[in-house]
Amino acid sequence: MEFTPPFPPHLDPNYNGNNTGTEAYSKEILNQMTTSERTRLAVKLYKKREIEIHDAIKISGLSAEIFASVLKGMNIEVRQMNVLVCGGAGFIGSNFVRHMVTKYPHYKIVNVDKLTYAGNIDNLIDIENRSNYIFYQGDIVDQKFIDEIIVKEKIDSIVNFAAETHVDRSIHIGSREFVMTNTVGVQTLLDATRRHNLFKFVNISTDEVYGSLELGEQRMFTEETAFEPNVPYAAAKAGGDLLCRAYYNTFGVPVIVSHCSNNYGPYQFPEKLIPYLITKALNREQFPIYGDGRNIRDWLFVLDHVKAIDLMLHKGIPGEVYNIGGNNEKSNLEIAKLILQYFGLPESMIKFVPDRPGHDRRYAIDAAKIMNELGWYPEHRFEEAIPKTIEWYLHNQEWIAKIKQRNADINEHIK
Ligand SMILES: NC(=O)c1ccc[n+]([C@@H]2O[C@H](COP(=O)([O-])OP(=O)(O)OC[C@H]3O[C@@H](n4cnc5c(N)ncnc54)[C@H](O)[C@@H]3O)[C@@H](O)[C@H]2O)c1
Repeated sequence: MEFTPPFPPHLDPNYNGNNTGTEAYSKEILNQMTTSERTRLAVKLYKKREIEIHDAIKISGLSAEIFASVLKGMNIEVRQMNVLVCGGAGFIGSNFVRHMVTKYPHYKIVNVDKLTYAGNIDNLIDIENRSNYIFYQGDIVDQKFIDEIIVKEKIDSIVNFAAETHVDRSIHIGSREFVMTNTVGVQTLLDATRRHNLFKFVNISTDEVYGSLELGEQRMFTEETAFEPNVPYAAAKAGGDLLCRAYYNTFGVPVIVSHCSNNYGPYQFPEKLIPYLITKALNREQFPIYGDGRNIRDWLFVLDHVKAIDLMLHKGIPGEVYNIGGNNEKSNLEIAKLILQYFGLPESMIKFVPDRPGHDRRYAIDAAKIMNELGWYPEHRFEEAIPKTIEWYLHNQEWIAKIKQRNADINEHIK
């Protein structure tokens, strides 16, 4: 039976002539309808191309996944999602862009990156000519630029990786850029999400906002753990995260925040611990290790993080926070010894250097929520993924050399 909607958008008494999608249908009308009526309405409007997928999902009241299976059952092709990835030329962002461009050829992936010292367009050389991929150089703090991209590329969702990420720089060089990108940048994207009525905004954050745990204590960070950032990097990230919470509560902006533990894998800028030590091993140089080397981090392979972000984008609930971790705690000393062992180098190459100020002792993530609610689990075992990671850097020494040519001062404060 043909289902007739209550009235077309332009006859809706609440329609102001500017809105599109769900705003054209009053909430009261939708609430009076059964799920099956709402689904049929959503399918009909979607099929007639009167609305986009995110509005169809909202009208149906179903999850994105169930609505997609309804469309599939009716042989209706799911139209593309246009995702704005911010900071997609960095380590995790480039791994995410590659995953999305390859897995969803019908989506459009728009990468906006300022290309700071950490941004590297070479990270995406293998996919740069794909028809579903576009790159723009620009700053997430620049509201006008972000607005233009959203309109021009008909963006419906944002995933934000753009950040100043090196804790040491926030201590030794200064924290202003950290606040600009990690806090003001997030606020700019929240405003844009609100102004353009986007489907979803996933803001990638860190476990470092929770502060530090003690060695030997059983406690892990959960989504309820209070923020206690100890370094300017973490404080600036926490600022962005708190704005996400406030924009959801105040304006209903459909934002999701994730707190992930330390990532490792290909394309990581060689100032971060694992690629830094690999480059030291390649050059047969000493391994500088802060303090007593017993600081513990939870290590997760980058593609497991990428999979979690894909799930959050498609199935995550707006307003929710998800912790992501590998349940794989290792001290910096253990990491150093592993790399030395791989290269057949002696442990005497480890050189303990004065600790950095505010150095958190231990991070540990309880990832039960994303596992139970979104069905996520890490697929890569550390014992297998770490040698593969080392091999990747061995096979890509030209990639490292080019970065070093551009950045002669990598970690030069560590003496
Ligand atoms: N690397 C980790 O272990 C880890 C763990 C948890 C969370 N995170 C978070 O994940 C995100 C990505 O981390 P990463 O390790 O890939 O970082 P990265 O430093 O490798 O990449 C950051 C990218 O953001 C870009 N960028 C910086 N400022 C920008 C701006 N104002 N506008 C547009 N682009 C800008 C840089 O050019 C770079 O390409 C960050 O938000 C970080 O806080 C990282």
